[in-house]
Amino acid sequence: MKVTLSVIKADVGGYVGHSSTHPALMDAASQVLEEAKTSGLLIDYAVLRVGDDINFVMTHTRGVDNEEIHKLAWDAFLKATEKARELKLYGAGQDLLSDTFSGNVKGMGPGVAEMEFVERPSEPIVIFMADKTSPSAWNLPLYEMFANPQNTAGLVIDPSMHEGFRFIVLDVKTGEEYAVDCPEEMYDLLALISGIERYTIKAVYRRKDGEIGAVASTQKLSLIAGKYVGKDDPVLIVRAQSGFPAVGEILEPFARPFFVEGWMRGSHMGPLMPVPFHHANPSRFDGPPRVIAAGFQLANGKLIGPRDMFDDPAFDYAREEANHLANVMRRHGIFEPHRLPEESMEYTNLPKILKRLRHKKGLEEGEYVIEHNPEEEHD
Ligand code: F6R
Ligand code: MG
Ligand code: MG
Repeated sequence: MKVTLSVIKADVGGYVGHSSTHPALMDAASQVLEEAKTSGLLIDYAVLRVGDDINFVMTHTRGVDNEEIHKLAWDAFLKATEKARELKLYGAGQDLLSDTFSGNVKGMGPGVAEMEFVERPSEPIVIFMADKTSPSAWNLPLYEMFANPQNTAGLVIDPSMHEGFRFIVLDVKTGEEYAVDCPEEMYDLLALISGIERYTIKAVYRRKDGEIGAVASTQKLSLIAGKYVGKDDPVLIVRAQSGFPAVGEILEPFARPFFVEGWMRGSHMGPLMPVPFHHANPSRFDGPPRVIAAGFQLANGKLIGPRDMFDDPAFDYAREEANHLANVMRRHGIFEPHRLPEESMEYTNLPKILKRLRHKKGLEEGEYVIEHNPEEEHD
């Protein structure tokens, strides 16, 4: 049976500030998706959340980029936004960049990861959802899962994985895409994806038969809107077992916390902390960035799950280490490398500051009064 798995996410209002999601928003969205399940448009759905982001996991048979499915997600986000406005939650409707739906939610604010495949006799799937970071946060773990034999023993041991995987890498600045085949082109892959500001892994395919293994959301809100409008808190779908990395190989990269861009004001480096669903509420300095892992078994498109995959004491040490790394970073305060370099920051006040200081340079020696600069009014 050919099934499409669509994960569509958006932040349509935070509770409190940008830290979490109010349950009333999840209920409002669930009602819309429930109707679509009753009408037969959806086979099944789950509504999950990480931080201030709501994630719809939907199964159907309409294929990827389907207008009806995207419109459904859009309508569900609108219903949740209505509730957010009623409760005066923070940033209500934040990620919905348009008033009217125009055929596909891509380019309209929400993040999207979708894949279509023939359901295997048993189809284990892990869906990662992160808050306070950006899509390139998946570069390192996807490399580990699908290209690094030190992480994924199956690349060496399992004959069905031995031919390796093809990575599709997106240059988010130019929109150009590259196909990179591992293991032969592993150094080429690393040359691109180690640049997390510009290159993002979009999808991974098994080379033996072209089967899709992973898909990530790659939407960059600031590039869509041309200004800061919130972070691009990403999602990632990964198929597991029988010729794909085992569930444990998929989760393993998160046991060694690594630094990602995001955190406070989308302008800081911080460790990505793997947490159970109930701990996905980034509040310390609006972080540190969080990732949850929702495990499902598909049964004729029905979603059996979610199972909360990071709800395991074996990840306690990673959480402790992430807290330690967070402290080390916070020690730098506003200084780099905690704060991102100027060109990567989501917010900046520097042009205004420089303009004012340049004006002061024109003052005679000994003068200390900064005259009012009328030009500043027109910024
Ligand atoms: C980061 C994030 C928060 C906000 C911060 C300021 O992705 O969402 O850290 O950037 O709380 O929010 P505003 O500008 O809405 O006051
Ligand atoms: Mg928010
Ligand atoms: Mg968010």
